[in-house]
This record gives sequence, C-alpha cells and structure tokens, in this order.
Amino acid sequence: GSNGPLAGRRVTITAGPTREAVDPVRFLGNRSSGRMGFALAESAWLAGADVTLVTGPSALPDPIGVHTIRVESAREMLDAVRGPVGSAHLAIYAAAVSDFRPADAADRKMKRREMETDVSVDLVANPDIAAETRALRPAGAVAVGFALETHDLLRYARAKLAEKGFDLLVANDASDPEAGFEVATNRVTLLEPEGDPVALPLASKVEVADRIVARAAELLALREVT
Ligand code: C5P
Repeated sequence: GSNGPLAGRRVTITAGPTREAVDPVRFLGNRSSGRMGFALAESAWLAGADVTLVTGPSALPDPIGVHTIRVESAREMLDAVRGPVGSAHLAIYAAAVSDFRPADAADRKMKRREMETDVSVDLVANPDIAAETRALRPAGAVAVGFALETHDLLRYARAKLAEKGFDLLVANDASDPEAGFEVATNRVTLLEPEGDPVALPLASKVEVADRIVARAAELLALREVT
C-alpha cells in the first residue's frame, strides 16, 4: 500500500507472449501464459507502486489497480512501452517476445488450394524491447530482465545481464518441469552485476514475484538520493 517499499514509484512491466501474424487468422507465438509478469504487477502494486503492465495475449484478467495495456505483436509492445518506461523508476521485462516475425503478413487468409504443397515463410528479427528502451529509462532507474535457457543457464545469464544493462536478472531453467512456461510454480536464480547468484527455492510465481519486487525495491532505495 501507500507505505510500501515502492510507494511513490512508477513501475513498467512487460508480460506474456507476443503474436506475430502470418495472415489474418494465423500467428507465430509461444507458450508464455503471462503468469509471472502479472504476478510481478500485482506484487509491485501491493508494494505501493503506480504500475503499467504491457502484455501480449493472456487469458489472465487485468490485475486490480494496475494500468494494463494489451497488445499483440512485439512491435506493438515496443510502441506501448516507450511512453511509460520513460518515467519509470523500475522496468521489469518479463515478456517472452517472439524473436522473429513473418517478413510480410498476408492481408488475406492463405488458402491451401492456392498454395504449393509446401510453403515457406520468411522470418525477420523482431526488435529487442529491453535493448531498444534502455536509453529511454531515466538515469538511476532499475532494470530487471529474465533469461530462459535449456543449458549453460548461468553462463548465458551473466552475459545477458551485462549486454542488456540489467541490474537484476532472473534466470529460469527451461528444462525444469516445475519452472517456466504454463505452470504456476517457478525455480529461479537471481543474478546481479556484483556478488554471487542467489538460487531461490521452488515457489509459486506469486512468491517468486514478491522476492523479485523486494530486491528491486532495495536496489532502488540503495541508489536513489531523491
Ligand atoms: O536474449 P533473451 O531473449 O533471452 O533475453 C531475455 C530478456 O530480454 C527478457 O527480459 C525479455 O523480456 C527481454 N526481451 C525483450 N525483447 C525481445 C527479446 C527479449 O524485451 N525481443
């Protein structure tokens, strides 16, 4: 609430998958449910923050008290994040953004009888929302990112922390059946530029969100003079 560790702070969070149109009825997407990002939004709101949640398609309802913006594609997500992130004290990039999109989405449904037996779809790279909005974040803002890997998790996570300019990185092992997409639990390791990785026990995504928000609030309090 209003006395919480994020009282008076503005927080921008990305969540969910993105959908990249192949034609008006088909898309490329992924298995993200939005649970982790929505839990982060609720946790930040409970900590007293003014929260903007920018989410790709998710079956979850808008979290209470949170300004929720629903988008479809990575490019729409980037456009929606640019404004709020410019005045955010804390930015959390929890979305599972599609790395690629079809180069040209057909404007009419692709018909099987008008196609060859096999079809190939050219893909182009999507913008990296965390990277593209890095320069928009106010000086002193805290940035939190996620890494989902199936192997060499901590090595890639370390690299990502540095490359993307995150202050805190939440590393998920995608090969763990109790963590990652489509489940209500998560087992994550928290990494910061300094210090040893902190492995959290298996917990609900709500509990994991509380830990992430608590640490981000501490980092913000440590660095901020105002
Ligand atoms: O490089 P990788 O996709 O593993 O990085 C993951 C982190 O970067 C996550 O925090 C994710 O939300 C963010 N990201 C993004 N835009 C992308 C790809 C990843 O914001 N296009």
